[in-house]
Amino acid sequence: MPDKKHLLIVAHNPSPNTQKLVDATMRGAMHEDIDGVTVKHIPPLQAKPDDVLWADAIILGTTENFGYMSGALKDFFDRIYYPCLEHTEAMPFALYIRAGLDGTGTRIAVGKITTGLSWKPIQEPIILQGEYREEFEGQCEELGMLMAASLESGII
Ligand SMILES: Cc1cc2nc3c(=O)[nH]c(=O)nc-3n(C[C@H](O)[C@H](O)[C@H](O)COP(=O)(O)O)c2cc1C
Repeated sequence: MPDKKHLLIVAHNPSPNTQKLVDATMRGAMHEDIDGVTVKHIPPLQAKPDDVLWADAIILGTTENFGYMSGALKDFFDRIYYPCLEHTEAMPFALYIRAGLDGTGTRIAVGKITTGLSWKPIQEPIILQGEYREEFEGQCEELGMLMAASLESGII
């Protein structure tokens, strides 16, 4: 059997709802029909450059705070940017944003940094906006499954 691919989830989970989003993303990525992918969730404040270098694809998850990504995700980018810049070109990634109201500032800010890194978005960011709804978990589960299945099949 070929070596497993590596999917890293760097998602901020400061509240019960955002924890549910991480759990749903993990559940999708670890679907029983997908056995060629190792999945790891590391909160952004703990994720290091070596974790990014380990990954074949990344799912980023953040809250929107004060019109911007969480400080935790910003800290992650501050620490991994230069160590990874030359080594992660074309990294496939996806982003979900949990926003009480908006999400635009976060989408733009993460877009600038990931463009700087030359990472490759596999789809438009998912903005989980407004009052919390259970369907957000379905969207995250689907995203996790899509990323893992795409990695396994070599599409990304
Ligand atoms: C300090 C603070 C600032 C926030 N700023 C924004 C914001 O600028 N835009 C927005 O859409 N939501 C904002 N929110 C709402 C959060 O995005 C939301 O509470 C968070 O994603 C957690 O979701 P939950 O309440 O469903 O657990 C803010 C929340 C906090 C605590």
